[in-house]
Amino acid sequence: MNERDAFPALRAYWHPVARSADLQDKPVAVSLLNERLALFRLPGGVTCLQDLCIHRGTPLSLGWMEGDRIVCAYHGWNYNSGGVCTRIPAISPDRPIPDKARVPAYQCEERYGLIWVCLDQPHAPIPECPEFDDPNYSRYLVGPVTWDCGAARSIENFVDQAHFPWVHEGILGDRANPETIPVKVQRCPEELRYSFVDRPNPMHPIPHRRVYRIYRPFAIHQRKERENGEVEASFFVVTPHSSKRSTNYLYVLRNFALSECELRERYELDMKIMLQDKIIVENQRPEELPLDLSDELHIKGPDAVAVEYRRMLAELGVV
Ligand code: FES
Ligand code: CO
Repeated sequence: MNERDAFPALRAYWHPVARSADLQDKPVAVSLLNERLALFRLPGGVTCLQDLCIHRGTPLSLGWMEGDRIVCAYHGWNYNSGGVCTRIPAISPDRPIPDKARVPAYQCEERYGLIWVCLDQPHAPIPECPEFDDPNYSRYLVGPVTWDCGAARSIENFVDQAHFPWVHEGILGDRANPETIPVKVQRCPEELRYSFVDRPNPMHPIPHRRVYRIYRPFAIHQRKERENGEVEASFFVVTPHSSKRSTNYLYVLRNFALSECELRERYELDMKIMLQDKIIVENQRPEELPLDLSDELHIKGPDAVAVEYRRMLAELGVV
């Protein structure tokens, strides 16, 4: 069983597909779970339709918005936000529009500066990042960065402590001190939770406790809590375009100030870490995460989080 076997079930989860800021007066084409989708910003809000005009298979994302309607670029058919065709310019307005003249419309929400889509009845809410709306926190976004790997490989890498000294030596880890800190993973219906007191590392030299929530399927909320109340939070969410292609969005949020210069340095380090990870993760095979625990070799202790994560995803592949 692989990541793609969970795709039918993943249609019932919310996935980020674009930045809100990137959807303005032009349609945006995105792919999610092997579906081609078109996003539109209409007066009533953001709309997501299958990116395929029912008439002749033209992508609706080649069209445009006119008032509260979407216009197909090929023969000008109009669609409303529910995907129902409301006008066929080539026929007289007296003639009825066929009932079949419609395209699937999907649920769509804007949250955390991102557009989220769910292709089915949502089985779980959009993952939580409470710091996002807290005025005490400032933030920046690292990404979007698209990788040639499944989304689950990317999530698993983000929480994999054992690679820090090897891939991010001198930033997040130290090869002279490569042992991981044991964690006890708590399974909740839709998430994994754990925390541990981290060893200070070059990027985070102040002692802190790391508190993790891994949301099924592809979101991580992490807080680095210092004793003095300062917190740096990360919210990492990944779009599964296909089982071999995904896009990462990483928000970093802080309730304490950094100078302009420190902020720039930190942002550049975050980008550097992503690039270091990309080289590894894009070259892992298979590109998508194997969900059978007998595939690949797990080490008790360091791989505890990965094992629980694979279990949680594998449940979705059980038909
Ligand atoms: Fe869209 Fe003809 S293909 S209107
Ligand atoms: Co890494």
